[in-house]
Amino acid sequence: MIKINEHYLKLQASYLFSTIASRVADYQKKNPDREIIRLGIGDCTRALPIACIAAFHKAVDEMAADASFRGYGPEQGYAFLREAISKNDFQARGADVSADEIFISDGAKCDTGNFQEILSTDIRIAIPDPVYPVYIDTNVMSGRTGIFQDGRYQNIIYLESTRKNNYIPDLPAEPVDLIYLCYPNNPTGATITKEALARWVDFARKNKALILFDAAYEAFIRNDAIPHSIYEIEGAREVAVEFRSFSKTAGFTGTRCAFTVVPKNCLAYDESGHAHALHGLWNRRHTTKFNGVSYPVQRAAEAIYSEEGKAQVKEIIDLMSHVGGEHSPYIWINANRDSWTFFDMLLESAGVVCTPGAGFGACGQQYIRLSAFNSYENTDKAMIRLREALGK
Ligand code: MLT
Repeated sequence: MIKINEHYLKLQASYLFSTIASRVADYQKKNPDREIIRLGIGDCTRALPIACIAAFHKAVDEMAADASFRGYGPEQGYAFLREAISKNDFQARGADVSADEIFISDGAKCDTGNFQEILSTDIRIAIPDPVYPVYIDTNVMSGRTGIFQDGRYQNIIYLESTRKNNYIPDLPAEPVDLIYLCYPNNPTGATITKEALARWVDFARKNKALILFDAAYEAFIRNDAIPHSIYEIEGAREVAVEFRSFSKTAGFTGTRCAFTVVPKNCLAYDESGHAHALHGLWNRRHTTKFNGVSYPVQRAAEAIYSEEGKAQVKEIIDLMSHVGGEHSPYIWINANRDSWTFFDMLLESAGVVCTPGAGFGACGQQYIRLSAFNSYENTDKAMIRLREALGK
């Protein structure tokens, strides 16, 4: 008899953004003439930067001639892209990350979800609340949690991020083995200072723990004092893996390209306490399960680092920052009522889609998240409709 992975039965409903998409589709079916403004999922609406498109076209043309055609590329990514990332995203900010510590992939969602596979199921995990649901759901799937009870999974140490602590959770009161952090934060939009991040790095070093640092939104940082990478913090290379994405930086949500940094001296331990480099383990997993991002997409991503690419990306981000949070494309709003009720009300009365905070955790029950991934005009229109719907 074929048996299922019963841990999947512990999962709550469907994946957050699938639930939202199907509720919106139902509403649209019933109200075909209603113009819906989507400020829910952080999905790009602007065209790819011209520099990326030019590089993309050129690479497709190369694929059209036998002499320049490329078949399988390196699973970890082409050297041209890994070197551009190492130089521009890390070395330029004084962060010591070399090209061969970078793994190109098709998304930070997949990487943040998959990374736990190379870690033991018998570990203590600390996860912020609210949080991007992929971190929790993938740990539920692999059996690291207990059942869902009273709004939370058992065996997870939830790190509450609330207005009281400026959305920077306190260090866990007990030792933990794995910590998820995301800054600039999804969903709250909060940023972290170097000093606060250094406390997490110190905690991880003391506890021989690992930090999975999601920096998918670093391009939205406006203040140079805020760290873009955890590797700007001394000692972080030993205890942190970092995830980045071109999705939010340059509109690659549909094109798919991202990367994960696994420093060669970042360690994890076996049952007997012997240290192993995570770089080798992740390389083994990546090369076994992934065949690399397509050549034209990697060329398009490389173009982000050209002078014109940088200027075009800045222009797109500046526009989003104008309509979004200060250092993030998201605004976290206290709705003062159940977030799914607010979601329905907003959709019904204003035709505006938000993300209910409850989907990010118990601390988000009364909050909603609005994203800046829409045109200035639509966002403006949405705010007018919102005011009307709330009678303001
Ligand atoms: C979000 O809206 O939280 C993100 O766009 C979802 C994702 O990156 O998968």
